[in-house]
Amino acid sequence: MKKLIVVLMLYCSTSPVWATDAKLENIQVETSVQAVERGVDDLMNNCHSCHSLKYIKYRDLATFGIDKKKIDEWRGDQPIDAPLAGLMSDEAAMQSFGLVPPDLSLMTKAREGGASYVYSYLLGYYNTPEGMTGNHIFPETKMPDPLGISSATEPAQRDELRKTAHDIVSFLSWAADPHEQERHRLGYYVIGYLVILTLLLYFVKNQVWSKLK
Ligand code: HEC
Repeated sequence: MKKLIVVLMLYCSTSPVWATDAKLENIQVETSVQAVERGVDDLMNNCHSCHSLKYIKYRDLATFGIDKKKIDEWRGDQPIDAPLAGLMSDEAAMQSFGLVPPDLSLMTKAREGGASYVYSYLLGYYNTPEGMTGNHIFPETKMPDPLGISSATEPAQRDELRKTAHDIVSFLSWAADPHEQERHRLGYYVIGYLVILTLLLYFVKNQVWSKLK
C-alpha cells in the first residue's frame, strides 16, 4: 500500500512535466565524425543562409576531423580562423522576419529539451487547412519550414528529412560543446597519471618504512 502511495505521488508530481514534453520526440544524438560531418554539410545547405554559429570556427571543424576539402569549399576566401557567420545581414533579416535569426552555436544547450527540442521543431511543420504552415512545437515561429517537411508526403521522403534533421542536431550538439571528447581523453590521462603516482608513492613508503623497522 505504501508503495502504491509513493508511486501515485511520483506520478502526480511529474505528470505536468510529461504533459509539456509529450510533443517532443526524444532522440539520442550521434557523436561520430561521420554524423557530425553530414550534419554540418546539411546545415551549410539548409540553415547557414539565415543562421550564424559564431562560436565555431572553420578550424574547429578541421581539428575534429571533418574533410578539409569540404571546409575549404564552405569558407571560400575566408581565413580558417573565421567563425561560421550567417549569410544574411541583420537589416535584411529584420525586413523579412521582423527579428534576427538566433545564433545556433549554443542552441541545443539554450532550450529546454535540448537536441530533442530542435529536432522536433524542425520536423514539427505542417500545412493548415487555410494553406498556411503551422508548427506543433513553436506555433508562432517566424522561421519558414527549412527542410520542407510540411510538403513532404511520401514516407520515404519524410524518412530522408528525419535523417537530415537528426544529423543537423548531432552537429549542433557537438557545436555546443566541441571540446567534450578532448576533455574525456584528458580525464583518462589524469587518472592514469594519478594511478602511477599512487603506486610510486606506495613503493617509496615501503622503502622508507623497511629501513625504519
Ligand atoms: C529563411 C531563413 C531561415 C532558415 C533557412 C533557417 N532558419 Fe532557423 N530561424 C529563422 C528565424 C527568423 C528564426 C526566429 C524564429 C522566431 O523566434 O520566431 C529562427 C529560429 C530558429 C531556432 C530557434 C527556435 C527557438 O526556440 O527560438 C532554431 C533552433 C533554428 N532556427 C534552427 C534552424 C535550423 C537547424 C535550420 C536549418 C535546417 C534553420 N533554422 C534554417 C530563420 C531561418
